Amino acid sequence: MAEQAGRRQDQGAGGAPPQLLPVTPFDLVVFGAAGDLSLRKLLPSLFHRWRDGQIPATSRIIGASRTAMDDAAFAALALESFRKFHPGERIEEREWREFAALLHYVELDAARSDDDWLALSDKLAGDAGKQRIFYLALPPSLYGEVSRNIAAAGLKSPGARIVLEKPIGRDLASAQAINDAVGSVFAEDAIFRIDHYLGKETVQNLIVLRFMNSLFEPVWNANAIDHVEITVAESIGSGTRASYYDTAGALRDMVQNHLLQLLCLVAMEPPLDLNADTVRDEKIKVLRALRPITPASIRQTSVRGQYGKGASNGEVAASYADELGRASETETFVALKAHVDNWRWKGAPFYLRTGKRMAGRRSEIIIQFKDVAHALINGGSEKLPPSRLVIRLQPDEGMSLLLVTKEPGPGGMRLRYVPLNLSYADAFSARYPDAYERLLMAVVRGDLALFMRRDEVESAWKWVDGILAAWDVDATPAHAYAAGTDGPAQAAMLLDRDGRAWFDGV
Ligand code: BG6
Repeated sequence: MAEQAGRRQDQGAGGAPPQLLPVTPFDLVVFGAAGDLSLRKLLPSLFHRWRDGQIPATSRIIGASRTAMDDAAFAALALESFRKFHPGERIEEREWREFAALLHYVELDAARSDDDWLALSDKLAGDAGKQRIFYLALPPSLYGEVSRNIAAAGLKSPGARIVLEKPIGRDLASAQAINDAVGSVFAEDAIFRIDHYLGKETVQNLIVLRFMNSLFEPVWNANAIDHVEITVAESIGSGTRASYYDTAGALRDMVQNHLLQLLCLVAMEPPLDLNADTVRDEKIKVLRALRPITPASIRQTSVRGQYGKGASNGEVAASYADELGRASETETFVALKAHVDNWRWKGAPFYLRTGKRMAGRRSEIIIQFKDVAHALINGGSEKLPPSRLVIRLQPDEGMSLLLVTKEPGPGGMRLRYVPLNLSYADAFSARYPDAYERLLMAVVRGDLALFMRRDEVESAWKWVDGILAAWDVDATPAHAYAAGTDGPAQAAMLLDRDGRAWFDGV
């Protein structure tokens, strides 16, 4: 309690910001605690939540992994990683010491059901009344086994929850097997399947933008919208994850989850309320309405790419094959033309693209409205740029509504295409939590709204499986693109065939 009080003092007389949703004390066991996700995202996020006063002082974060170390070494590793991944952030020695008091460690191979589990049982003993959470920062192939081991070790206390990282499986069949295995131990409402894009501030705002402003909903359909583009471009390469990445590729790693979740939020019907199942029921209708991509349509609807040598952030960037150490057919870029075959979207396609080693880090959604029926200048022959709503998910979060405007001053009717701009950085001064911070606290609160339900994950796989099968039949290899560019030229062709082009800014 004294620690908690000290921390609050730092924050001024008011203590924790009033908008923080309180959470109950918890024991969070992170399996794979010495791995990249845990060190890069989970532990820093927990520190930030602790520093903001959201984590009760009696909570514990128990790291578990095969690496031999004690509590102190684990805390030191967590601090070293925090400094590495948050280089600009000041962190007082005292505050870290206080946070580190929450950190514990057990050496454990969670995939084996042997005596190692006794150490974890000992740590958790006597605290069965506390909210217990198991976070599996492990390969998905272990999820079933680890769930069974948790139960066999008698650690599944009443109300215990389990958190699974994406990807759940590598196709529909493996996803079903994982869901069955985990589901035989944990009830569906105790399973939190993470798609961290759902925790992003700007992604949450999609629902607010669409359904809490009267302006957009009347025109949010194929009568007014020509098409939608969703781009998630990354400048990083596969890096140290190359061996995992090569088993996945961009379609499984990004489209099956992040891009399809974005598509659902843009395309879904208004939910009756914001309860988890109400929203998830609407999203799943979109997934079910996705037109299957087949061998007959694959060439017109998909483009695969793989980066070769190039330049990124002013430095020479190796090719994917060089990073991996061998040639590979895995795609590091994918562009798709998707159709949502329902009343609202008939005739307005969704173009999706994502890739590594692209020109920059940029995630955005473009809603391109239809051309005006008759431009009033030059006898109506002029092609005016269409109204576009650009939703910038990251970086430089915000949105712009691009409109044709009369350039002020003399010289007749000169037109300019200019943005009405909302920049989060200018409009909101508060630091807002990273996606993992929000999601971790949502697990403790038991709020499933930001997590994927079993049927959602499986519907997404069903559609993706169709693409994978069609690629197998078609056997067109991935097109090469130079690192640091926006993907292969064929991705432009995907839209060009429809008389359209990716919108990459004015
Ligand atoms: C992960 C993918 O889910 O998302 C990574 O596995 C990718 O390959 C990452 O780099 C992108 O996340 P963000 O939040 O940086 O856009």
